Amino acid sequence: MKNYQKLQASYLFSDIAKRVNAHVEANPDEKIIRLGIGDVTRALPSACIKAFHTAIDEMASDSSFHGYGPEQGYDFLREAIAKGDFQSHGADIQADEVFVSDGAKCDSSNFQEIFSTDITVAIPDPVYPVYIDTNVMAGRSGDWNDGRYQGFVYLDGSSENGFIPDLPKEPVDLIYLCFPNNPTGAMVTRDQLKLWVDYAHDNKALILYDAAYEAFVQDESMPRSIYEIEGAQEVAIEFRSLSKTAGFTGTRCAYTVVPKACMAYTESGEKISVHSLWNRRHTTKFNSVSYPVQRAAEAVYSREGQTQVKELISYYMNNAAYIRKKMEGLGFDCIGGENSPYIWVDAQCSSWDFFDKLLNNAGVVCTPGAGFGTCGEGYIRISAFNSFENVQEAMERIAKACNIRILLAHGA
Ligand code: MLT
Repeated sequence: MKNYQKLQASYLFSDIAKRVNAHVEANPDEKIIRLGIGDVTRALPSACIKAFHTAIDEMASDSSFHGYGPEQGYDFLREAIAKGDFQSHGADIQADEVFVSDGAKCDSSNFQEIFSTDITVAIPDPVYPVYIDTNVMAGRSGDWNDGRYQGFVYLDGSSENGFIPDLPKEPVDLIYLCFPNNPTGAMVTRDQLKLWVDYAHDNKALILYDAAYEAFVQDESMPRSIYEIEGAQEVAIEFRSLSKTAGFTGTRCAYTVVPKACMAYTESGEKISVHSLWNRRHTTKFNSVSYPVQRAAEAVYSREGQTQVKELISYYMNNAAYIRKKMEGLGFDCIGGENSPYIWVDAQCSSWDFFDKLLNNAGVVCTPGAGFGTCGEGYIRISAFNSFENVQEAMERIAKACNIRILLAHGA
């Protein structure tokens, strides 16, 4: 309990939902456009729906019914993932290194559990709040002081470094990285990622690499997986999700790759296989994802599924390009939206103030950058997950609200 008492406020997206609900209650007739939490709005690909239906029919008959499946996921899905997401991109990942789960949020939360509480953890700022909060819950932090928890090594992002943090100056044991980045939309190059892999080798550190948004990478020269970098298999775990890739936020299917070559070290320097630790944890605490969901996920890797998923991604990326162009047109500096569905906007004022202004004056929900850490203050994140029509309307309303703001600033 004492660790949980250190946590600041509630979970960011619950906080935002509370504010938005209060606004909706006070303005019941207003249409709110939600570009806050990254929740997809378009239907599942028809290939997934078809596989889902077939699997449900199998469950309806004793002869084809499925009870408990393997905790790590069915082989048909693990094999489709290893082949479709890694081997076909030149990354030598095997099916038995893939652990199917119900979400990258859960996996990226849970993974730290297998390590001691006295390790040193490096966490980017701004950051997906889950990485920090779960380490606080586990007892790895000191007290909250001046906007930060003591005991963590923070990796600062800023407009100067393009929100790609520099390597830690001190040795650390566990490093969280996320590319394409949530929340900033920044994307790392192969050379930059190689520096992190080399650092991890030199310092016997482990990288927890969150690649939940890899499907949005448009630039072919950028890495889709950390395993495209030489030496990464020994030092990195990768989290992936079908939530944003294939519209599975409500369906729930994700996976974590734990290469057999990946090692952690005891205090005395003894090598331990991370794969066997995670397998032990996973088999004890998890019973995998339902059979119909895994069949629907498998369909993502079919030829038809791949075509449909690409269409989904390009729909959202068209929104992202539109948002970025419009916000830049209004005079805001932006990053992201090129290899990511998130646009990170320099708000030119406090991020919660800008959040309130957009909600109250435009009926548009964004995410205040300060909720992602002290380096996020002064920024907001706009998500491209909505219909193009809503995105267009949101941008029109923001333009109107900003024009009023500009006129007021000039004393009109
Ligand atoms: C976000 O908006 O950052 C994500 O939707 C949160 C999540 O995936 O859990």
